Amino acid sequence: MSILDEIKKPINEELEAFKPYFEKNMKSESRKLNLVVNYALRTKGKQLRPIIVFLCAKLTGKVSDATFTAASLIELLHTATLVHDDVVDESFYRRGLFSIFALYKAKIAVLLGDFFLAKGLLMSLENNGFDLLKIVSEAVKEMSEGELDQLEHARRMDITEESYYEVIRKKTATLIAACAATGAQSSGANTDIVQKMKVFGTKIGLAFQIKDDLFDYQKTGSIGKPKYNDIQERKLTLPVIYALENDKDGKKRTIKKIFRKKQKSKYDIAAIVDFVVKNGGVDYSIKKMEQFKSEALALLDDFPDSEAKNALTKLADYIINRNK
Ligand code: IPE
Ligand code: IPE
Ligand code: MG
Ligand code: MG
Ligand code: MG
Repeated sequence: MSILDEIKKPINEELEAFKPYFEKNMKSESRKLNLVVNYALRTKGKQLRPIIVFLCAKLTGKVSDATFTAASLIELLHTATLVHDDVVDESFYRRGLFSIFALYKAKIAVLLGDFFLAKGLLMSLENNGFDLLKIVSEAVKEMSEGELDQLEHARRMDITEESYYEVIRKKTATLIAACAATGAQSSGANTDIVQKMKVFGTKIGLAFQIKDDLFDYQKTGSIGKPKYNDIQERKLTLPVIYALENDKDGKKRTIKKIFRKKQKSKYDIAAIVDFVVKNGGVDYSIKKMEQFKSEALALLDDFPDSEAKNALTKLADYIINRNK
């Protein structure tokens, strides 16, 4: 059994029931739109966000109808942001296939992302998910801000370690925090617990994005999306930020110059990766990622042992060790 299968074991039934529920909510009346929707549904990704919603509900109480609504809304929003993200990042692959942007171009990708967003909102309203919408709308707002801040930093190439954490908190960790918080809320947990789970989600979300950013600098197999896209797109992520600040042999200027180039050759990329590894950028990022993971797990200490707690602990390990 794969680690992900082990993690899903306590919520297998819920995930089975979630599948048709989620897919139904993505469909449209328009045949044309459904062609694109069906393409988007061909690969479903790791579904880490619904997994977190269900496990956090189980950890803190009982899975309810509201848990399903939360899981669907968040996975819909996640899918919408990936479709938009590939436009922003000019990225041609997603989940092992051509991205919507590559296949149908920016106009359709923008509209499809909006459609998913609207479907998610409608579905939540139909299910009276007002508490849910409050948490999740805040996350969506922050995601847009995070993506915009990141673009601006890429243009100016001026990001610091502190502003990096702020960007990844906004663009990635808030949605994962919303998974943990809405999972708890849907199970009937009190506000203190919901708040605690939100912090838990933020911390594993930060670890999650650092791992994603490490993919450009570590040896990996196929990750289902383009490697070196962050380098091509001038995204200064933690490994390179640290290496530039801890440049041992005075190559900082040269490396920054290569980083600025619009088109980078494989030699350019190799030079950047080599510089980052040599100056400890990968080791440092791994250390920070592990630190966030440990801080997240410490928040689970007060909960009694359970299948859900055990699975969440494994999930935290999976997030920092995964290979896609
Ligand atoms: C990718 O998220 C986007 C990031 C926040 C890095 P996932 O790695 O969870 O994507 P899927 O859903 O499994 O494809
Ligand atoms: C994605 O960050 C964060 C989102 C809000 C979608 P990335 O741009 O690093 O995600 P990938 O690597 O394309 O999945
Ligand atoms: Mg991207
Ligand atoms: Mg991006
Ligand atoms: Mg990425």
